Amino acid sequence: MTTSSSPATAQGSGELMRIEGLQAGYGPVTVLWGVDLVVREGQITALIGSNGAGKSTLMRTISGLIPTRAGRLLWQGREIQHSTPAQVLGMGIAHVPEGRRLFSAMTVEDNLIMGAYLRSGNRAQLARDLERVYEIFPKLAERRTQAAGTMSGGEQQMCAIGRGLMSAPRLLMIDELSLGLSPLLVEQLVEALISLNREGLSILVVEQDVVAALEVSSQAFVMDMGRVVQHGPSDQLLADPAVRRAYLGALAD
Ligand SMILES: Nc1ncnc2c1ncn2[C@@H]1O[C@H](COP(=O)(O)OP(=O)(O)O)[C@@H](O)[C@H]1O
Ligand SMILES: [Mg+2]
Repeated sequence: MTTSSSPATAQGSGELMRIEGLQAGYGPVTVLWGVDLVVREGQITALIGSNGAGKSTLMRTISGLIPTRAGRLLWQGREIQHSTPAQVLGMGIAHVPEGRRLFSAMTVEDNLIMGAYLRSGNRAQLARDLERVYEIFPKLAERRTQAAGTMSGGEQQMCAIGRGLMSAPRLLMIDELSLGLSPLLVEQLVEALISLNREGLSILVVEQDVVAALEVSSQAFVMDMGRVVQHGPSDQLLADPAVRRAYLGALAD
C-alpha cells in the first residue's frame, strides 16, 4: 500500500532514495519492468546481477538520461522521475557511468572541473574541492596536467569518480567499479570509497565481483531481467545458499 511519504518521514527512516515500480527502456524495448529499491542515507548499497539485467539502465533512468515510463523515483521523499539530468545532478545525485566517459583529450584537472559545472563559479571553493579530490586520489594530483585518455584504466576510473565528487553529491552512483582494472587499483578504489562513506557519502555501486560488492556494502539488491529479485543486508546475502549458487558458483567449488 502506498501512502504519500513526507520528506520528514523519509529522513526519519534514513531513506535517501526510494524507487517504486520503475519502468523504462529504449524505443520499443522495455528493459526495467518495475524496479523497487531503497537507498539508505550513509550506506554503501550494492547492485548486482548478471549481464543485461538492467543495472546500467536503472542508473541511467535515475540520472534522468532515460525517461521513466511508469513508477516513482523519490529523492528525500520528493518525486524526481521527470527531472532532467542537470536537475538530478543539482539535487545531489552523481553518476559515474559504465566505461567512465571522460573527455580523453582534456587534462585530468579539466575533467574534474567539468564535474562542478553546475555549481556557482566560486573559484576558491572549486580550488578547495579539487585539492580534496587530489587528497583522496594522490595519483590524480601527479597527473593533473596530463590528458585523461593517456592514463591507465584505474587512473581513469579515479578521475571519473573524482569528477562525480566535484558536484558535491549526497549519493554517488558508480556503474561497474572494477571492470577491467588490476586488483591493486581496485583495492585502492574500494579503500577510497570506504573512507568517503565514513565521511557520510552514500554510495550505490554496480559491481561484477559479487563477493567484493557484498563485502563492502551494507545492503544489496539483486537484479534479473529488469526486476529486483532479491535484496537484504549484504552479509545475509553473502551467506545465502541460493545467492551463493547463482552468483558465486564458480568460486564455491
Ligand atoms: N542503448 C540501448 N538501446 C537498446 N537496448 C539497450 C541499450 N542499452 C542496453 N540495452 C538493453 O537493455 C538490457 C539491459 O542492459 P543494461 O542495463 O546495460 O544491463 P546491465 O548493466 O545489467 O548489464 C539489455 O538487454 C541490453 O541489450
Ligand atoms: Mg551495465
